[in-house]
Amino acid sequence: MKIKIKDYNSIAFAKAGKFEESRYEKIHNVVFDSSSEASILVAQEIAALIREKEALNKPCVLGLATGSSPIKVYEELVRMHKEQGLSFANVVTFNLDEYYPMDKSNIQSYYYFMHEHLFNHVDILSENINIPNGLVNSEDIYQYCIDYELKIKEAGGLDFQLLGIGRTGHIGFNEPGSHLNSATRIITLDHITRIDAAPTFLGIDNVPRKAITMGIGTVLSAKRIVLLAWGANKGSIVKETIEGGVSSYVPATYLQNHNNTTFVLDQEASAELTRVKTPWLVTSCVWDESLKLKAVVWLSELLNKPFLKLTDKDYNDNGMSGLLTEEGTAYDLNIKMFNKLQHTITGWPGGKPNADDTNRPERANPKKKRVIIFSPHPDDDVISMGGTFDRLVEQGHEVHIAYQTSGNIAVSDEEALKFAEISKEINPDSEVINNIINSIKTKQGNDAIDSLDVRKLKGSIRRSESLAATRYLGLPDDRVHFLDLPFYETGTIKKGKISQVDIGIMHNFIDDIKPHQIYAAGDLADPHGTHKVCLDALFMALDDLKVKSYMDDCWVWLYRGAWHEWESYEIEMAVPMSPDQVLKKRHAIFYHQSQKDGVMFQGGDSREFWVRVEDRNRLTAKKYNDLGLADYAAIEAFKRYYF
Ligand code: F6R
Repeated sequence: MKIKIKDYNSIAFAKAGKFEESRYEKIHNVVFDSSSEASILVAQEIAALIREKEALNKPCVLGLATGSSPIKVYEELVRMHKEQGLSFANVVTFNLDEYYPMDKSNIQSYYYFMHEHLFNHVDILSENINIPNGLVNSEDIYQYCIDYELKIKEAGGLDFQLLGIGRTGHIGFNEPGSHLNSATRIITLDHITRIDAAPTFLGIDNVPRKAITMGIGTVLSAKRIVLLAWGANKGSIVKETIEGGVSSYVPATYLQNHNNTTFVLDQEASAELTRVKTPWLVTSCVWDESLKLKAVVWLSELLNKPFLKLTDKDYNDNGMSGLLTEEGTAYDLNIKMFNKLQHTITGWPGGKPNADDTNRPERANPKKKRVIIFSPHPDDDVISMGGTFDRLVEQGHEVHIAYQTSGNIAVSDEEALKFAEISKEINPDSEVINNIINSIKTKQGNDAIDSLDVRKLKGSIRRSESLAATRYLGLPDDRVHFLDLPFYETGTIKKGKISQVDIGIMHNFIDDIKPHQIYAAGDLADPHGTHKVCLDALFMALDDLKVKSYMDDCWVWLYRGAWHEWESYEIEMAVPMSPDQVLKKRHAIFYHQSQKDGVMFQGGDSREFWVRVEDRNRLTAKKYNDLGLADYAAIEAFKRYYF
C-alpha cells in the first residue's frame, strides 16, 4: 500500500513507477507520512537535476509553482544552497502563472512569493527568472503570451515542472474547460479558486478575476512533472484526477497522458484513493481491528443497512469474503463491530466515577480530573466541543481553557472602531484611543498591517467575548488562560514559523497544570493553517514532557474544528447532547459576537459557525443512528492521540 521512502532515492523515486495495488489508478503516485518528508525528496530530485545539468555545462530549466504546496520544497532548496553549496547559477525558471492585474510589489503577487520563498535566498541570475507580468497592457497580452512560450522553447524547454492542484482540478490556472493544447494565455479564474484565495486577499472581493497562466500544452511539454498535494481538502480532487477519465472539466486529468509524471501526496491527500479508502476492493487485506470497523461502516453506509442487518452475502459481494473467513459469520462480525462503536458513546467525557470502565472510552479514576482544553482561536472550544466542555464542568472536573492565539486578525476594522468609539465616549481625552480611531480610519488598503494598539484592541475584544462564553458555561476566570503564542502575532494573515518560544509556552503551561486530560484541535485539513501549527506546538511540547511521570496518567483527545469531522470509524469517544445542551452550546457560541454575521475568513461555506457545527453534530448523531445505534439529537466526536 504505502510505498516506503527508503524504496527510492531522489531520481529513482521519480522513475520507479511502482503501481502496487493500483487498480483504477492512471497516474503514478507516492504517499508519504508527512508533507515535510515528501518535500525534502522532491527538493532532492530537483537538486540532482540541477547538478546533472551543471556537470554537462547546460542550463537547467525549471517550471515553478506558487501557493502553499511547494513552500517546503523551496525551503529545502534554500537550505541545500546555504549548507551544501547547491548553486542555481545554471538555473532558468519559468513560473506557471500570475494574477491579472497584479503589481509585482504587491505581497499577494506570485512575483513577491517567489522572491520571498526562493529567489532572494539563492544565487540565481535575475535575468534567468521568468514570471508572467501581471501588469502587461491588455492589448499586448496576446503577443506577451506568445513570447513567453517562445522564451521557454529558446531556453531548451522545461526539464522539470513543479505543480500544485486546485480544488477545481486546475494546474497552473488552467481552470475547467481548458483545452489539451492550450498555451500561455489570460484566463478567468473559477469561483472556487477565488474562494480558496480569499483568506490571503482578506476577502473574495479583493481576489483578481483573471490570471495569466501557462497552458496545458506548455505544462505537458515538460520532460518531467511532479505534482504536490497536501491535506484533506485535496483528497477528492486527487482521486478524481488519478482515477477518473480524462476530461477538460478536471484539467489535471490531462496529466494521465504524460509519461513521466508523479503525484507526491501526504496521507490526507491520498485518503480518497480507492486503494487507501477501500483497500478490500483492490487487494487482500491484513485485517486489524480499525480496518475491520472502517470496512463494516463503509458497507453499512453503502447498502443503507444498520450493522446488525448485514448478511454474509453483503460481505461476499463487496470484496470482504476474506474478512468473513477470519471472523466466522456476518452475525459474529456485526455484533463485534456494533459493540465496538457502542463503547465509544459516553455522557461522561471525564470518566464515570465508581463505574466499571473496561469498555468506556475514559478511565473512572481519578474521579475529579484536571483537564486542559486547548483552543487555537478564542472560540474553537465552544464551537467544536461546547457540549463536552459543559459536561466536564458540570461533572466537577477542574477544567482549564487555554486559548493558544489571540485571534486578533479575525476582528474587522468596523468592529474594532465600534469599541474604540465607545471607549472614547467614556474617556474622550485618551491618547491611545484617539490614536486607535485615527489609525483605523486612515488605514490604507485591506492588507495594511494594524498598529500594535489596534491589534491589542482586537485581541481584547476576543478575550472579553471568550470570558463571556466561559462564564456562561460556569468556569471561573482564573481557569481561563490566554497564551498569545508569538508565531501568530505578525499582524498579517501569513503567520510566523513555530519556534521554541511557542513550544516553551505550551510546555510550561502543561507542566503547571499537570493535566489528566488534554483536548486539542486535531485539524489536519490545511497543513499551513493556524490549527495545524497549534497542534504541532502541542505535539512538540508533549514530546518534551513525556519523560515526566505525571504524563503517564494524561490522555489526549483530539476534536476537529469548524470544517471537518472525524469519520464514524475513527471516533473513539462520542459525547451525545440533548436538545437543551445543543441550545446551550449555541448560546455559548453567540458570545463570540465579532465572529458572527459574516466573519472575515468565511471560506467557501457561508453558514455561520453555530449553524455549521449544529449541522455537523446532528449529522454525526444521524450516522451513528443509521449504523444501528441509539438516536441522539447531536454528538461531539473525539479521537485519542497516543504520544
Ligand atoms: C500556483 C498555481 C496553482 C496552485 C494551486 C494549489 O502557481 O498555479 O495551480 O498550485 O492552486 O494551490 P495551493 O498549493 O495553495 O493549494
